[in-house]
Amino acid sequence: MENKNSENLWRGNIVNRRKFLGRSAIASLGLALNPFSMVAHGETGAANNGEGKTFTGTAPNRRKLGNLEVSAQGLGGLPVVGFYTSGVRDQSLVNKLYREAYDNGVTFFDTAEVYGPLTNEKQVGEAVAPFRKDVVLATKFGFDVDPDTGERRGIDSRPKTIRRSVEGSLKRLKTDYIDLSYQHRVDPNVPIEDVAGTIQDLMNEGKVRNWGLSEPGLNTVRRAHAVQPLSAVQNEYSPWSRDPETDILPLCEELGIGFVPWCPLGYGFFADAINENSRFSEGDFRAILPRITPENIPQNLEMLYYIEEWGLRKNASPSQITLAWLQAQKPWIVPIPGTSNSVHLRENIRANDISFSSEELKEFNSGISDITIAGTRNAQGVMDAMGVEAPSEG
Ligand SMILES: NC(=O)c1ccc[n+]([C@@H]2O[C@H](COP(=O)([O-])OP(=O)(O)OC[C@H]3O[C@@H](n4cnc5c(N)ncnc54)[C@H](OP(=O)(O)O)[C@@H]3O)[C@@H](O)[C@H]2O)c1
Repeated sequence: MENKNSENLWRGNIVNRRKFLGRSAIASLGLALNPFSMVAHGETGAANNGEGKTFTGTAPNRRKLGNLEVSAQGLGGLPVVGFYTSGVRDQSLVNKLYREAYDNGVTFFDTAEVYGPLTNEKQVGEAVAPFRKDVVLATKFGFDVDPDTGERRGIDSRPKTIRRSVEGSLKRLKTDYIDLSYQHRVDPNVPIEDVAGTIQDLMNEGKVRNWGLSEPGLNTVRRAHAVQPLSAVQNEYSPWSRDPETDILPLCEELGIGFVPWCPLGYGFFADAINENSRFSEGDFRAILPRITPENIPQNLEMLYYIEEWGLRKNASPSQITLAWLQAQKPWIVPIPGTSNSVHLRENIRANDISFSSEELKEFNSGISDITIAGTRNAQGVMDAMGVEAPSEG
């Protein structure tokens, strides 16, 4: 929530804030000033507006991805599987974190067969078991993963591999249906029509309810959607990765497909979790990311500082500003910040209370456009698998 008095109080400090105000203090500022937003569970398209009248559409803090209704913010599963720290979180802590998310209105949980591999689905399945029917579980297929050892052998969306993956996901997630099943990466050897047909079969069997694509080629989206309508595309999108704005977001808008930004916080960079002194240990995925090498961090911090200035204007932490900015782009955008930390979870959820007027959006966008980012958004090998078009049939 914006607070004008506090805004004035802090405005004078902006210029010198890097010297006088620890950046963790800025984060706490957002925590201290934003009222906690509680959301009732099970809200649907028809909700009570508090005056005894009902309105149709999507309830507050709920959004639509195609026809699938989800909470306005989801929870990503990578941090609890140790992707960023090389340590897997204890299941009792994962249970607590997911219960806390659920109790605070987050009902959209993202995972994948390859997170772990295999282990994150088990963590999430166990954590949401007490309230499984009230949440949306999203997972992903599309790699050849040995179901026993977890060995990952490359991209593979042949129908038999999709089936094996989905059956495995159902077991690991302790559920008999997947709410949203994404193809993790387009398979350059399998026509997307074959993938869509396999998903249709799984839908007819009641095992999959909705589907999506992650980092697909544009034409592949059109072809997939023509066979079986997509609910969501999941791509990287954040202040330093705005490529979706030029092509995939307009396409989603045209086709009525929802959009789920992954790494909305830039691997923690926009949550002020990375600074000039950050170094990543072996096994921490961040060690290979070009934008957070020791050489590139100092230049890229300019964008974090810019976001922090907006945080001072709106009395919010940089993670809250970043998530609220993403949510403000379109009502069918649902970021899925990942966290393993309950304080961070609560901080992120409060982004739901921050709004941007269209003038503010324009100003914010023009400010970030002026900042030059050093480094590509990912390592070349990872980028090579993105934006791929599936081959034609026959
Ligand atoms: N489709 C794809 O190809 C793809 C690729 C990558 C990710 N994903 C999905 O997208 C989700 C989100 O992306 P991500 O988790 O990789 O990156 P992210 O959400 O951009 O950032 C996660 C990192 O930020 C930190 N963080 C989060 N909130 C924080 C806060 N308020 N203050 C300080 N630090 C904070 C987390 O550490 P703490 O644990 O300490 O909070 C974690 O290290 C993933 O979890 C996964 O489900 C999908």
